[in-house]
Amino acid sequence: QQACTALSYPLLSRPFSLPAFKMSVVTVPTTPFSGQKPGTSGLRKKVKVFQQKNYTENFIQATFTAMPGGSEGTTIVVGGDGRFYSPEVSQTILRLAAGNGVKHVVIGQDTILSTPAVSALVRSLKADGAILLTASHNPGGPENDFGIKFNISNGGPAPEDVTNKIYAVTEDIKEYKTVELPDLDLSKTGEFTHGPLKVTIVDSVSNYLQLLQEIFDFDMIKKWLHETSPKPSVLFDALNGVTGPYGRAIFVEALGLPESSIQNCTPLPDFGGLHPDPNLTYAHTLVERVEKENIEFGAASDGDGDRNMIYGKGAFVTPSDSVAIIADWAEEAIPYFKGGVKGLARSMPTSGAIDIVAKARGLECFEVPTGWKFFGNLMDAGRLSICGEESFGTGSDHIREKDGVWAVVAWMSILAKANQTKPGTDINAILLAHYKKYGRSFFSRYDYEEVASEGAEAMMAHLRETFASSSFAGSAHKATSSDASFTVAAADDFAYTDPIDGSVSTKQGLRIMFTDGSRIIFRLSGTGSSGATVRLYVEKYSRNEAEYADDAQVGLKPLIEVALQLSKLQEYTKRDKPNVIT
Ligand code: G6P
Ligand code: ZN
Repeated sequence: QQACTALSYPLLSRPFSLPAFKMSVVTVPTTPFSGQKPGTSGLRKKVKVFQQKNYTENFIQATFTAMPGGSEGTTIVVGGDGRFYSPEVSQTILRLAAGNGVKHVVIGQDTILSTPAVSALVRSLKADGAILLTASHNPGGPENDFGIKFNISNGGPAPEDVTNKIYAVTEDIKEYKTVELPDLDLSKTGEFTHGPLKVTIVDSVSNYLQLLQEIFDFDMIKKWLHETSPKPSVLFDALNGVTGPYGRAIFVEALGLPESSIQNCTPLPDFGGLHPDPNLTYAHTLVERVEKENIEFGAASDGDGDRNMIYGKGAFVTPSDSVAIIADWAEEAIPYFKGGVKGLARSMPTSGAIDIVAKARGLECFEVPTGWKFFGNLMDAGRLSICGEESFGTGSDHIREKDGVWAVVAWMSILAKANQTKPGTDINAILLAHYKKYGRSFFSRYDYEEVASEGAEAMMAHLRETFASSSFAGSAHKATSSDASFTVAAADDFAYTDPIDGSVSTKQGLRIMFTDGSRIIFRLSGTGSSGATVRLYVEKYSRNEAEYADDAQVGLKPLIEVALQLSKLQEYTKRDKPNVIT
């Protein structure tokens, strides 16, 4: 495709409000595609699905139609993780934005903007919304996934009333509105006139980097990195996703670390074949290097930069602990929270470690369904500062998305602060100190990916039926490989009433609570692109110091056995092993 900048048709760089230069809007007839229902995080499908004629146009049109307040005269931000098919879809968005009366599009250079950076830009520009081109941590490339997600003017994912409206429009769509514009060259930053649109192409990193420099004490982190002896070593892995340029700007340029402290830091359309999800399975090259080279601080982020994993030598920080520890240290180690932390929150399957910190600090703590969008209202209402999910998402009210790089810098801040009083403190020491203070919530998640939907649904139905029996509460369940036994205290299908707007979300996961405080939860993933993914979450709280250094898998084994028996998971899904354990 021929790239063509606005400068090559200079007449159009005159004030675009002049009707003589307004290129005409074309109405193109189309017919609906079924299944354009945005999931937990937008519409995610195989690239091939998006490549069907009018498939992408329909969804983008529906997004403009459903935008709260309409699209006429708006400013929107467009960015993404640079995955395969992003260049084509960016041009489609520009054409349909022009067709739908959008006034100003702010877009990342080469469409690259991490999800947190988009959220930050929407907020600093007071834009009306954003379109993100990403399928997050799902693999990319012509045979893999693409995704389109809409964020609203607070910078956060669109709430359900908006995504339901988008879906309703796609079900009944008859036409879309476009302006037949040539492709705009997105490789140079600057301001351009593109048909009736003003388009600003922004540097992918600078606005976000400035925000982080306002939030954290970079000098304190630098002191820890450069003035401790021996110097702590760091490894950040962007998994060939969008955070590469951010990693380089922050860790190498701003914090002065050597080039060897970042890896996989060039965003690639197919992530170089990696599965860009920061967990022990998919970020294993990071884990191996950290162990082999005795690296104190390792961290990774996902395809679009909103997830994170913290991994120090011999110490995997489970995301449920990570958010609890950040919350506990925030006021002391992060200038942004100096004035006080407003409240804390976690998603339902996330362990209760953060609840314990909240209680000790006298803070409100919320339990919301899975999905970052549920935190937005609480933040907007000034009741929530720090929150996290077991799915490797951690963040704060500095933006309205979870923020992988923020979490990494938060952990560096904690280590820097701890080293001021106790030189040599590493991640393991931070974890153990936390457990000693608050007890340890052992947590693990088993993922059974791409199982047949019927089997997964049948298993959930079986569990609902079990819960409905009057003898279930109070029943005892024995593990298979030991004498451990768990008595059911209660079981339900999690429902949530948003304390701010009163909206109700039902069927958010099946949970079994035991009398000793342990929990088992079953949920079907809302982010897969084919078949069903069953997630099994287990949690057990311990105040026994002798157990604090144990491997979570050992401590949780009896509970997992009970979960497998109760659900008949193997029978229903035909799987005897999970694909991923975190
Ligand atoms: C996305 C959302 C997260 C959510 C996760 C759940 O990453 O941004 O907020 O926790 O999806 O995914 P799942 O596959 O479990 O529905
Ligand atoms: Zn993501």
